[in-house]
Amino acid sequence: MADKKAKTSLTQSVARNLLIIYLISLAVLGTAVYLYGKKQVLNEARSKLRLLNGMAIAIHDVVKSELQPHFLKKGEFYPPVISSTVLLKLASEKFLERHPDYLVRVISDNPLDPNDLPRGEEQAILDAVRRENRGLIRTLKVSQNTYMVHAQPIVAEKECMICHYSPESAPRFIVEQYGTKSGYGWKIGEVVGATLVGVQLAPVLTIAFVRTMILAVILGAFFGVIFFAINSFLRRQVVTPVVELTEAAQQISHGKVDKELKTDRTDEIGDLYRAIELLRRSIQVALSRLKR
Ligand code: HEC
Repeated sequence: MADKKAKTSLTQSVARNLLIIYLISLAVLGTAVYLYGKKQVLNEARSKLRLLNGMAIAIHDVVKSELQPHFLKKGEFYPPVISSTVLLKLASEKFLERHPDYLVRVISDNPLDPNDLPRGEEQAILDAVRRENRGLIRTLKVSQNTYMVHAQPIVAEKECMICHYSPESAPRFIVEQYGTKSGYGWKIGEVVGATLVGVQLAPVLTIAFVRTMILAVILGAFFGVIFFAINSFLRRQVVTPVVELTEAAQQISHGKVDKELKTDRTDEIGDLYRAIELLRRSIQVALSRLKR
């Protein structure tokens, strides 16, 4: 009975301590893995966003410096070569066919094309861009997906008035295609809309969860191996000898003093063997004297 209790309690307390260390390590490393994963996902999104935004700005600049002056001089008002916004819209449609996990939107709350009206959270982004009158980075939820979005204000300039001033002054094909209700009455210098370019944010929590699970399994295996190593060491080196010594001491206490205790161990347990062996011999001698 007593042997069994000693055996289980030693290994159990090792198991308990290892479990506590495992849980603490998991909490600390799990938090680190989560924070690092989050940072990594955001950094990745930011660098993709810079790239995409750079491309949008390049399109804008080409229209402004090359196409617009050339075609306006000739009195030609074909929108994609006059308006960088229109060209960006067309280019982004082609781009998104190939890369559906990105987002490019041109929004305005007074648009020619009703598809450009802000949807959902886009209105709040347009309001913020208008308030601050500068580029902003925001997150935007579209159905199930979350995007990191760069929103750039679109400011009406003199050239824009060719088409966006009034239905009367706009080229006829504009009015024929878009009607007279919306998309006009813009004022120079006013923020009329925003260009949104976005990259999908990989679901941070899912990534962190999967990584933490992997960590838990690896750590668990690591601690499992340590536990089995310590456990078998304890059993071999401590528990079994202590049980043997306990039995020997019990035998001696019952007067059975014939069995010699032998060990070649040189450590503390070896000392204990030798001490009990000395005890056994003393009692053996005393008993044989008594019997005489
Ligand atoms: C030659 C005519 C023309 C000029 C000049 C023009 N646009 Fe436009 N713009 C359009 C057309 C046409 C659309 C609608 C495009 C579509 O259907 O995709 C449009 C759309 C837009 C949109 C998207 C919202 C909407 O109305 O659908 C914005 C924003 C915009 N233009 C800004 C500008 C700015 C800023 C300028 C001046 C720098 C400008 N436009 C100059 C013709 C023009």
